[in-house]
Amino acid sequence: MKVKVRRKAHFNAAHRLYRPDWTDSKNESVFGKCSNPHYHGHNYKLMAEVEGEIDPETGFVIDMKLLKTVIYEHVTSYLDHKNLNEQIDEFSNLNPTAEHIAVVIWNRLRPHVADHLTLKITLYETERNSVEYSGS
Ligand code: NI
Repeated sequence: MKVKVRRKAHFNAAHRLYRPDWTDSKNESVFGKCSNPHYHGHNYKLMAEVEGEIDPETGFVIDMKLLKTVIYEHVTSYLDHKNLNEQIDEFSNLNPTAEHIAVVIWNRLRPHVADHLTLKITLYETERNSVEYSGS
């Protein structure tokens, strides 16, 4: 009996999308307003979904308190109110697109979720735009 459990979280962060090996005009034409050299912010919303068998002893797939704590310790406290390009190591050479942010979040959470459970990250950059990553 497989069940999915979900925990929602959010953080605010600034970023700029650009490639240093491209001209300003090419960055502008590909990334638009998101390549503003003075950065801009988003209110990111995150959904972490864990799927697996219910533990017969606890009745849980995963302890929500644990999930809440690992999301806070390894993702939201790490990213909240940061400039992703300048302050987050993973983005020192990686464009902080929603796609890449979702992958970074998944990589940070995966070691803290038991191996027999699957993990999926959905990241909303805006109300209308979201991306999903499950590790492959
Ligand atoms: Ni943006």
